[in-house]
Amino acid sequence: MTSALLDVQDLDIVYGKGRGAHRAVKAASFQIQRGEILAVVGESGCGKSSLARGVAGILQPAAGRILLDGAPLGGARGRAASVARRAVQMVFQDPDASLNPNHTIGAILDEPLIVTGFGDAAARRARIEELMALVRLDLALLERRPRALSGGQKQRVAIARALAMSPRLLIADEALSALDLTAQARMATLFHDIRDRLGIAILFISHDMRMVAQLADTVCVIRDGEIVEHGPTREIMAAPRSPYTRLLLAAALDPKAALGDPDLLDALASGESEKADMAVARLLARPESVA
Ligand SMILES: Nc1ncnc2c1ncn2[C@@H]1O[C@H](COP(=O)(O)OP(=O)(O)OP(=O)(O)O)[C@@H](O)[C@H]1O
Ligand SMILES: [Mg+2]
Repeated sequence: MTSALLDVQDLDIVYGKGRGAHRAVKAASFQIQRGEILAVVGESGCGKSSLARGVAGILQPAAGRILLDGAPLGGARGRAASVARRAVQMVFQDPDASLNPNHTIGAILDEPLIVTGFGDAAARRARIEELMALVRLDLALLERRPRALSGGQKQRVAIARALAMSPRLLIADEALSALDLTAQARMATLFHDIRDRLGIAILFISHDMRMVAQLADTVCVIRDGEIVEHGPTREIMAAPRSPYTRLLLAAALDPKAALGDPDLLDALASGESEKADMAVARLLARPESVA
């Protein structure tokens, strides 16, 4: 029995079959508590989105168990399964790909409420207004279509639509990556706000270690499908145990120096952790790289 909101045990996500099969997530185990913001970080292709899609029930795991409030996700069938599925909602990087361009924002937010049998038109309207307030959007936007909105506003609509399902866990897969820095900073505040007001947990995927430092309570570092480090953000940022985490941090602090350092690239390519450690230590010791 577990008291965590989400308990992932030995999760494997595999693409393809037989000799061409690719194990994108390898025996991943971690927990998320209620109200926790967990950042999942790691380089491109390390398996972040695969992990997220497994947890959201979009991909069927090849092995492992996912428990939400102690009950297996994906274990239920029929109506119970669709109710369980709703408890985990996902927001993606590109709102244009997920918002119907022909529908007004009002219709986009009404759809999940209709599907889940939320109530009559007046109840749904009240709920839509509540959701718009939650993501800090003006009600006048309800009459508009996605193309009339900024990138940040569209992403807020995507978040409001996810929240319409009253999820217990919200997964944001690079949801801030396409936004400019000001919009990103505002969205970070919004995520905190949503967590504080609704008490939901957020699994936040990002390349951006600065954003992670600002937003997340805990960090999970993935390398090549495996979790190499997981713990409180402050501890990991201050004293990362894994050389790979150190490398990610060094690259975030001073990407030019990290990418221009032949020793570091060499160490990374060879996978020799001691060598990588030494190269990172050298990089971090440079006065200009201590931001
Ligand atoms: N549909 C798919 N079929 C086959 N392989 C896939 C599929 N989707 C992802 N992969 C592979 O699985 C691995 C993990 O991919 P994933 O998209 O989870 O990485 P990621 O960490 O989200 O990367 P990024 O930061 O670029 O979004 C990669 O090697 C990728 O090529
Ligand atoms: Mg991804």
